[in-house]
Amino acid sequence: MKEQIYLIGFMGSGKSSVSRRLAGALGIRWLEMDDILKKEAGKEITQIFAEEGEEAFRRMETGLLARLSEEGAAVVSCGGGAALRPENVELMKKKGTVVLLWASPEEIYRRIHLSTDRPVLNGHMDVDYIAGLMAKRDPFYRKAADLTIDTDGKLPGEIAGEIAERLAGKKGKR
Ligand code: S3P
Repeated sequence: MKEQIYLIGFMGSGKSSVSRRLAGALGIRWLEMDDILKKEAGKEITQIFAEEGEEAFRRMETGLLARLSEEGAAVVSCGGGAALRPENVELMKKKGTVVLLWASPEEIYRRIHLSTDRPVLNGHMDVDYIAGLMAKRDPFYRKAADLTIDTDGKLPGEIAGEIAERLAGKKGKR
């Protein structure tokens, strides 16, 4: 197994809660990209989008990923857009194992419909919009992923356990 584990996937796929548990189970660091970006910028993600634009946010995300990739063993919870940029994916694959968390549009909606801190969905919080955006992003997510986990109907702890098991299986095969 490479040093880092990157959790990718659509907003609401459970990256933060699962990666925290996975890092705990593996006894390595947990790095949450959005939280670090917010702290560094001193503002919320919606505010970064509104004041500096999405492109600036994406550049910050790429810069942060490059720094985190030098931090040694860790589980990195990536923002939902991080795996859409080829340069980000190239780095993730070089430094670690990429795990895609998948959930159906209906489940995503159920999990995040009350959220107001996801600018990409502001004003579009409905299942059809989520399904459309997910269809556009899915090929990028799938291409980046070394492992894909279906999370529908599962709890974060269960999903973390499933990832740990599958990673251990992969290690054994090498
Ligand atoms: C985004 C997902 C968000 C955050 C930003 C953009 C996206 O992270 O990085 O709002 O484009 O999918 P989560 O996936 O953690 O919600």
